[in-house]
Amino acid sequence: MAAKDDKKLPAPKREKPLYSKDEATVIFVLGGPGAGKGTQCAKLVEDYGFKHLSAGDLLREEQDRPGSEFGDLIKSYIADGKIVPMEVTVQLLENAMRASIDSGNNKFLIDGFPRKMDQAVAFEETVVPSSFTLFFDCPEDVMEKRLLNRGKTSGRADDNIESIKKRFRTFIETSMPVVDHFEAEGRVVKIKATRPPEEVYKDVQASFASRGIRANK
Ligand code: ADP
Ligand code: C5P
Ligand code: MG
Repeated sequence: MAAKDDKKLPAPKREKPLYSKDEATVIFVLGGPGAGKGTQCAKLVEDYGFKHLSAGDLLREEQDRPGSEFGDLIKSYIADGKIVPMEVTVQLLENAMRASIDSGNNKFLIDGFPRKMDQAVAFEETVVPSSFTLFFDCPEDVMEKRLLNRGKTSGRADDNIESIKKRFRTFIETSMPVVDHFEAEGRVVKIKATRPPEEVYKDVQASFASRGIRANK
């Protein structure tokens, strides 16, 4: 048996965030599964030059990375629609942000994150405080139709009705409290997400303009 002193100590908690708001601009993008987060982020990347980081995409990449120690864990959490322990996701985001900043882009849309209060607190305390949260508001019946349709071609293991129901439950129980928390602080821009993508995007652009965020083109 290993002596007590052999145990690995947890990494020391940072005294302050890794980046200041001048060094990295972060907009969180939230909304239920299928609300259209990825679709809207793609448009914003095109017009505003943001770097888009989807927490779900980063987790799927890590799951598929040969030799990843977290592959099996991520797979089972995603199939169950549960939130992967935040240490994994925060680290993946931090790594991706560092790489982007090193190559000259420090403006981020962080999509599908934070999905749980502990992620929100850890990220803002140890990586960078967010500017605000863009929240896409969409009823479940609309999201369900979109996800089942996406499932015909997405190849995603969780775009099936059993996983979708679990994801909706997690969204209501675990992720909406994060939106409510930011909203109570006046840090949420809420967009109705039921209309066609171009119409939703017009509202996004108007909300960005009112915050002084300008398109590159
Ligand atoms: P999320 O990233 O929030 O899960 P996606 O952007 O992947 O959502 O969109 C889910 C599905 O719905 C995709 O197939 C997408 O093409 C479609 N979709 C996205 N936005 C809209 C919209 N405003 N109206 C109709 N379909 C949409
Ligand atoms: O955002 P997306 O739909 O791609 O997320 C897919 C899954 O990835 C979620 O249902 C969840 O299991 C996991 N995830 C997570 N923590 C996040 C984002 C996604 O655990 N912040
Ligand atoms: Mg998405």
